[in-house]
Amino acid sequence: MSETAEPRRACPSRVLRGVAIFEGWLTPERQAAMISDIRGVVAAAPFFQPETRFGRKMSVRMTSAGRCGWVSDRRGYRYERRHPSGAAWPEIPAAVLAVWAKITGLERDPDCCLINYYGAGAKMGLHQDRDEADFRWPVLSISLGDSALFRIGNVERGGKTESVWLQSGDVLVMGGEARLVHHGIDRIKMGSSALLKDGGRLNLTLRVVD
Ligand code: SIN
Ligand code: MN
Repeated sequence: MSETAEPRRACPSRVLRGVAIFEGWLTPERQAAMISDIRGVVAAAPFFQPETRFGRKMSVRMTSAGRCGWVSDRRGYRYERRHPSGAAWPEIPAAVLAVWAKITGLERDPDCCLINYYGAGAKMGLHQDRDEADFRWPVLSISLGDSALFRIGNVERGGKTESVWLQSGDVLVMGGEARLVHHGIDRIKMGSSALLKDGGRLNLTLRVVD
């Protein structure tokens, strides 16, 4: 077989509006191991409840791993080198980086793994991921725990949207033409997974930031 410059990417089981979905990518065993890795991250960088720039508390709780982490407060949305406590963010767990490498085929590691926790009633409004410097890099997301209704809109604001239920172990990639699609989480089906002892959903998003 001849060598090509194209990275070897994995094949999605479903593509919706250009968003590639890898259903059931992580086995239950790998999901459980990843939860224990995330517990280690959260022990060093506890969840916090971000505010929008208008002072409204977001319903998700967040933390990050990697060289930088995503934060939001009255000063706006941005990446920071440190957790709000002043501590450096912990490293991105190797098993999480392995999912990125296998699915995207990229040699470069992501700079940030944003970790969102959705408890009962938490959701995330339609938005674009656009705080990164170069949109040629994809954003990869891993779903763990209770199922979530993920809504996908368009690159432009407004217009029709479509939704898909993301289950524990699903991985999704927004890249190429779909890198800047609007997306959000409408609701969580609490109790639909036994992965997290206290229920809810963890979402990890991996980004190349600068
Ligand atoms: C996000 O857009 O930051 C999170 C998406 C998700 O929770 O699946
Ligand atoms: Mn997003």
